[in-house]
Amino acid sequence: MRSTPGHYTFAVVTMSDKGARGEREDTSGAYLKETLSAEGYVCVDYLVIPDQVDVIVKSLVELVDKKGVDLIVTTGGTGVSPTDVTPEAMDRVFEKDIPGMAEAMRSASLAKTSRAMLSRGRVGIRKTSLIVNLPGSLKASRENLDVVLPVLEHALEKIKGETSDCGAVE
Ligand code: MTE
Repeated sequence: MRSTPGHYTFAVVTMSDKGARGEREDTSGAYLKETLSAEGYVCVDYLVIPDQVDVIVKSLVELVDKKGVDLIVTTGGTGVSPTDVTPEAMDRVFEKDIPGMAEAMRSASLAKTSRAMLSRGRVGIRKTSLIVNLPGSLKASRENLDVVLPVLEHALEKIKGETSDCGAVE
């Protein structure tokens, strides 16, 4: 699908061992699909995969390198339990980090719960795609998406080489 500003394609990737086995309903993934679609992004893929680095890397690389998806939003696996490996997988997916976006999500989330500091979610770029890691619960994924939603379109324009001068807009 051809991307035009405001009509960027997106994929939702849920990292969950239980979800991948069909033992847990993916309410976060469903919420992210619905919300980004309502914002004008075009959903082209939705995956529920286990918390395994190799599977995560293969899935995201394919979405970017083969399918050219503009925006990939992941949910889950950002925490500190032994199975949480989403941030480690990003080492093999990202070509650039956007630490400010991850910091903004954690900072805003800390106003809601001190447990926000347990999310190690990252935001980065591979080729001309933007990848955003969100925590796994519905509440956490919603609260974190709310923080970055206003800058996603501008970030995508810049990632794709749009060259006009940036003016800060509120
Ligand atoms: N961020 C917000 N805004 N709201 C939350 O409820 N939950 C935290 C954190 N970030 C939370 C949040 C919790 S309890 C955990 S353990 C981490 O995200 C990691 O979540 P994950 O392992 O499901 O990715």
